[in-house]
Amino acid sequence: MNTDAKILRALRAAGEGTVSGAELSQKLGVSRAAIWAHIEELRELGYDIEASPHLGYRLRGVPDVLHADDLMARLEGNRIVGRDIKVFQETTSTSDVVDKLSRDGVPEGIVVFAEAQTKGRGRMGRSWVSPSGLGLWFSVLLRPRMRPQSAMQLTVAAATAVTRALRSRCSLPIGIKWPNDILVQGRKLVGILTEMSAELDSVRHLCLGVGMNINQEQRDFPRELHGLATSLRMETGEMWSRSDLAVAILKELDVEYDRIICGRFSEVVEEWARQSVTLGHPVTILVGNRKIHGRAESLDVDGALLVRTQHGHLERIVGGEVVLEKK
Ligand code: BTN
Repeated sequence: MNTDAKILRALRAAGEGTVSGAELSQKLGVSRAAIWAHIEELRELGYDIEASPHLGYRLRGVPDVLHADDLMARLEGNRIVGRDIKVFQETTSTSDVVDKLSRDGVPEGIVVFAEAQTKGRGRMGRSWVSPSGLGLWFSVLLRPRMRPQSAMQLTVAAATAVTRALRSRCSLPIGIKWPNDILVQGRKLVGILTEMSAELDSVRHLCLGVGMNINQEQRDFPRELHGLATSLRMETGEMWSRSDLAVAILKELDVEYDRIICGRFSEVVEEWARQSVTLGHPVTILVGNRKIHGRAESLDVDGALLVRTQHGHLERIVGGEVVLEKK
């Protein structure tokens, strides 16, 4: 952890109280002048740090920026997800960056955020609108030992983790539509894109990309998404701290990933099922030119959706577009 992150951790721990320059200097093993220089640097990034000659420093407010070291410091309890974090002001897609890192042999757990993406991508060749500073656009590199057929487990786990993080912070009627959509009353709040590189029988690496609409207003979305996409701000009328949400989500992702690699996917599914708007629902699945009508019954051990068709067969769905029909 670098000095900025250590200072922020000490200030956060003090809450409404102050921490003296002498205390910080002793704790961190650097001079008081160096502490002052770091405080100035943090202020330039927008951290509102009050300095009083007798009492010391107090953290009055944090900016809505993603600061890699600060995020990492706040994720100290995580086992894998967020062990390393990179933040870009702008990139094509955070998943492109993760793809490159994976080929360079970087260990799993690294998370790449971008304030803005110029070529954010979604499922089925769609683009993902990622305007600067208004949402969370990030990708996680994972190297689970699993068969490629089970990779869907990660999407299910990620949706469960994100939903749990959101539910602990707001009372919106959030629901998961298999496989990757988190919806509020039918409008998309979060999308998840899992991309994989694999041998025939084993996964080489997975890139889990998450896009969460946070502080956009309606006008920040292109017209064709009006009525289809939403943001936390549009749903609650409030501005949200992206860094607080990022920390909450990455903590939950770490918990869910641990469940997956320990072979406890059934626990993930149990929780997923409680948050799902898909199970028990009449659905139409569009797979290429094929349309499958039926009722979504359950998930199998790999995270595939099992749909009971009108003819009573159980179809195993691993891709395609799910349309929820009226009950
Ligand atoms: C979807 O719903 O179709 C999935 C959307 C996934 C968007 C995220 S944003 C971060 C990461 N980088 C991308 O280019 N896509 C994913």
